Amino acid sequence: MARSVRLVPVLLVCCALAGTACGGGVHGTPGGSGIRDPYFPKAGNGGYDVTHYDLRLGYAPDAHRLTGTATLTARATEALSAFNLDLLGLEVGKVTVGGETARWNRAGQELTVRPREDLDEGETFRVTVSYSGVPEAVTDPDGSQEGWLRTTDGALTLGEPVGSMAWFPGNHHPSDKAAYDLTVTVPRGLRAVSNGELRSETTARGRTTFHWHTAEPMASYLATLAIGHYDISRSTAGNGLPVYTAVDPAEKEGSRAVLARLPEVLRWAERRFGPYPFSSTGAIVDRAADIGYALETQNRPVFPGAPDLTLLVHELVHQWYGDSVTPESWRDMWLNEGFATYAEWLWEEEHGGKTAQETFDALYDHGEKTYEDLWSFPPGKPPDAAHLSEAPVYQRGAMVLHKVRQAVGDEAFGDILRGWAAAHRHGNADTADFTAYVEQQAPGKDFDAIWEDWLYGEGKPERP
Ligand code: TRP
Ligand code: ZN
Repeated sequence: MARSVRLVPVLLVCCALAGTACGGGVHGTPGGSGIRDPYFPKAGNGGYDVTHYDLRLGYAPDAHRLTGTATLTARATEALSAFNLDLLGLEVGKVTVGGETARWNRAGQELTVRPREDLDEGETFRVTVSYSGVPEAVTDPDGSQEGWLRTTDGALTLGEPVGSMAWFPGNHHPSDKAAYDLTVTVPRGLRAVSNGELRSETTARGRTTFHWHTAEPMASYLATLAIGHYDISRSTAGNGLPVYTAVDPAEKEGSRAVLARLPEVLRWAERRFGPYPFSSTGAIVDRAADIGYALETQNRPVFPGAPDLTLLVHELVHQWYGDSVTPESWRDMWLNEGFATYAEWLWEEEHGGKTAQETFDALYDHGEKTYEDLWSFPPGKPPDAAHLSEAPVYQRGAMVLHKVRQAVGDEAFGDILRGWAAAHRHGNADTADFTAYVEQQAPGKDFDAIWEDWLYGEGKPERP
């Protein structure tokens, strides 16, 4: 599902560089080292599209040592002589493509793989990377920690925006979504919890292996792995949807009441946003040093401690907006955070609190004081990667949605929220897709002023 941008036609390059006649078959060229994300130019890779990750991991918490074999099934979207994977730290042992040993080299986060034979455009191939080492935390451009995080009894991974390359090689950009099987072996007594559904759990020779399966497409930043001691609870929500929650025993008491409301929040969200997009749900509550934020990891959001109800609403609604409808690039972050924030406003409005209009008005009047600076940049155009998690993306992003609601009325707005989730279910979308979608849903209405002032405009928009 990745988009790749071809810069140079294959034939020209192979004739010019290889100096051979082109008649005897098309030669591949190297795939790109990034897919030119405006905020993370090295994230992801050009030339192929991963359909499945099979990750087999072992972790020894005492030595902090990870050993892994990652097998990616991918389709070449162009003829390739080489392609890149993103992997940060760790030591690579061996790489094979189609079962044959491949040459490889590394530079920073780029692992370049040269298969023995070029890959044809459209060819499906398997690349296997064996690796090991002590995985590390990654510091985001905004200063927060992600990647592989140690906990008192194990580890926790968080991957937004680029932390997942700290524990497995892949095409680490949200535009390439794939299915996952994650098989993790840990010392007996510990548990490993991840996305999707637990397919099996087997103990032998003092170690337990957990197999987690994620069938619906997942962006790699939403993959997670939590290793440690957890209080596990399994139940079902409406329609038999499996619920699996894993809670750090120290957070158990504090989490109980709010996690008990998960089915209620899901029921509400399904009414507002349409059918839940995945085959299971739940939560992970775990404490890692220096982590003060939650993340909408697919199926099972991670909370850094007992969540409050508003945070639970926020992360669950991300399952529709972010996890199922995933940004095409990191520029489109407001499509995640603006929607999840607006869901908080809707929840409050429908549960006896402030109306969304009151929340909007309070922000309009006091936004520059309440938050770092609501008017410092527009949600559709963050100035750089360090600003992706700030109020203009979250709250002002939500204000864009409220302006759409004001323009079309409550009923049409509800249809737009559900319709947008349905139109791009399990896919990717960008900001231009959203504005086009809204315009198409309300023919004859002019949204230009909303986009210009609220979505893309610098400074504080005129009072509505
Ligand atoms: N998406 C997370 C949330 O639920 C917050 C977050 C984590 C984030 N990492 C990020 C936001 C990186 C922007 C950039 O709100
Ligand atoms: Zn969020």
